[in-house]
Amino acid sequence: MAHLMDGKALASRVLAELKQSINVSRKPRPPGLATILVGDDQASRIYVANKRKKAQEVGIESFHYELLVSTPEADLLRLIDELNGNPAVNGILVQLPLPKHMNEARVLEAVDAKKDVDGFHPLNLGYLMRGDPHIVACTPLGVMHLIASVGYELRGKHAVVVGRSTIVGKPMALLLLQKDATVTMCHQYTKNLASITKQADVVVCAVGKVNLLNRSHIKEGAMVIDVGINRDAQNRVVGDVDFHNVEKVASYITPVPGGVGPMTIAMLLKNTVDNYLRTAT
Ligand code: GUN
Repeated sequence: MAHLMDGKALASRVLAELKQSINVSRKPRPPGLATILVGDDQASRIYVANKRKKAQEVGIESFHYELLVSTPEADLLRLIDELNGNPAVNGILVQLPLPKHMNEARVLEAVDAKKDVDGFHPLNLGYLMRGDPHIVACTPLGVMHLIASVGYELRGKHAVVVGRSTIVGKPMALLLLQKDATVTMCHQYTKNLASITKQADVVVCAVGKVNLLNRSHIKEGAMVIDVGINRDAQNRVVGDVDFHNVEKVASYITPVPGGVGPMTIAMLLKNTVDNYLRTAT
């Protein structure tokens, strides 16, 4: 039976450390995180509310902006520009997805790379690609913390990443590579997925499909990290992995909820506090 990788417990330890490091820094003002929500996507609204709540718990000041779905892109760019220049703001988060009339790449590139606590700016993606990570996307960073928390050595291991998004899959693969794993990426056009995931010592699945992976996909003793957040037929929150089936063969497994999700928020706040501690004032 697999050991559970408890992201909720690890995240609360990270948050306690952040709170402590803000206190001992004795700076004249607290760290600031700006969140921007455009439109009325209900899932995004819940995610942003959670991020703000946790930020406040650790002593980060929250600057929150809600824009109508019809807001012109130029108005959003103007707001980002203003926040780039505001010294009380150490991190800027533009919640995705954006409305269709907006150019996501242009918006993300408008955020000052030094305040890009999501790690989505091309400069931060480039640093990671170069093997010199600056600010790294929160979900893959949270997965790396979870792996490290159980003392797992990645060097020489075969890691398979399922999903190739810029938010999770691609930076995930680069971080695993950075730790000397042999990395394979799979995606929707991969033929015979199970034949590849079955070779993995570590599987990270970030697709968004209920029960995409079951025990026939997993080698005995593998570590299985489930990044998916989905609703099943009974409207329960579940991941991409058939948990009860896979926990019988895996050595380590993350639950959903309570695995990667809390770590994503913890890393967002860590990126914000790291920025704050780096700045002079
Ligand atoms: N939408 C889904 N995940 C994320 C995330 O990690 N950051 C932002 N900004 N938007 C998201």
